[in-house]
Amino acid sequence: MKVYKILSIVFALMLIVSACGTSKTTSGGGEASKDKKTLKVVTNAEYAPFEYMDKGDIKGFDLDFIKVVAKEAGYQINVVNTGWDPLFVEIKGKTADFGISAITINDERKQTYDFSTPYFLSTNEILVPEGSPIKSAADLKGKKVAVQNGTTGQEAVEAILGKNSPDLKKFESTNLAIMELKGGGVDAVVADNTVVEEYVKNNPNEKVVLIKDDAAFEKEFYGLMFPKGSKLKADFDKAIKTVLENGEYAKIYQQWFKAAPDVSLLNE
Ligand code: ARG
Repeated sequence: MKVYKILSIVFALMLIVSACGTSKTTSGGGEASKDKKTLKVVTNAEYAPFEYMDKGDIKGFDLDFIKVVAKEAGYQINVVNTGWDPLFVEIKGKTADFGISAITINDERKQTYDFSTPYFLSTNEILVPEGSPIKSAADLKGKKVAVQNGTTGQEAVEAILGKNSPDLKKFESTNLAIMELKGGGVDAVVADNTVVEEYVKNNPNEKVVLIKDDAAFEKEFYGLMFPKGSKLKADFDKAIKTVLENGEYAKIYQQWFKAAPDVSLLNE
């Protein structure tokens, strides 16, 4: 009797162990990804609503977007929050497979990196305290302005203040630039429109307002950024086009921006 009891316990344990083994499923990729390695994707998760940390998880429009794109392309991905400057170092050094971080496609970056087809339209915008005399980009001249280091916002402000202007204050993240504005250290912040709009929306008591200047700030497009010559670009371009066309992009866009996207604007 005792022996049977022990045997049945052992058998039950074996069942549990084997069940655990088979229930281990992988997430993110589709069937086709079985033979492909998990891709390392880098981001700077301090840029809501595109990428930000939420109780230890990276969330945002970019995250939801890249999940469906990677699945469509048949790849597993692991998104790592490296910060902005290290993101460029990792992609250039090929220690990461690509970056997604509201990254603007531009000619300067194209010399060092390859970009996917565009997935989002953006432009720079100015954040100022209520009652500020700054009403246009030209008004930034002679004022102290904070930007995130190495962004298109920095370039846009340099074009107005001059390249080595002492009035231009560069920060490691856009959030730190906004903190500087709150603390009164600068008169304005320049960053991507969707990000500063999100900030104003989420902080109604802060008495900050937005200044648009479409004549001064160019239209920009976000893309995935790959090491130069990456073989992944073709697969991801194809997948992006598919999710733009099949409505998956529109679904995610609707969730984050409560509006339908005009995907025809993405044709550069
Ligand atoms: N679009 C701008 C650029 O590419 C700013 C992007 C900053 N992204 C971020 N996750 N902090 O320069």
